[in-house]
Amino acid sequence: MIPAAPADAPALAALHAAAFPSAEAWGPDALRLMLEMPGAFGLHAPGQGFALARVAADEAEVLTLAVAPALRRRGLGGALLATAMAGAVARGAAAMFLEVSAGNAAARALYAGAGFIEVGRRRRYYPDGADALVLRRGLIASS
Ligand SMILES: CC(C)(COP(=O)(O)OP(=O)(O)OC[C@H]1O[C@@H](n2cnc3c(N)ncnc32)[C@H](O)[C@@H]1OP(=O)(O)O)[C@@H](O)C(=O)NCCC(=O)NCCS
Repeated sequence: MIPAAPADAPALAALHAAAFPSAEAWGPDALRLMLEMPGAFGLHAPGQGFALARVAADEAEVLTLAVAPALRRRGLGGALLATAMAGAVARGAAAMFLEVSAGNAAARALYAGAGFIEVGRRRRYYPDGADALVLRRGLIASS
């Protein structure tokens, strides 16, 4: 796993397209812009998966997390998430937030196992009409 650079955007877009429904796919330009946002950082396992996150003040957000379908259930998603959490702490975050579709059992299980809890819900947030759950995890002892 290596830090993702803006030049990796086409490779990240290919991974994103393989991992998400086509209505939710993010293209290279969108991914490059995300990586160039202040506080953004990415983790890239080339050909396997990636995560993007962002830190603003003391809060971090997972922007996306994707593992190639053929390589799932081997621990990479958990490793990307753990490394994103460590990266967020290193950048000063005390808590991490993310949104996940209520119907995304795999991601919900991954996040629950990593200690994320539901703190909100956005109704009909996704193109398929599913709600988004807003999850949070404290990253330091007092959070
Ligand atoms: C969610 C995703 C990133 C998980 O990646 P992964 O590499 O398969 O995850 P891991 O192998 O690290 O799994 C860690 C744990 O998550 C849970 N989990 C992962 N996939 C699961 C599934 N399909 N069903 C139930 N639990 C699952 C399990 O508890 C698993 O531990 P275990 O294998 O020891 O039982 C992957 O399924 C993916 O890319 N999905 C499509 C994109 C997506 O939904 N991203 C998240 C958007 S918020």
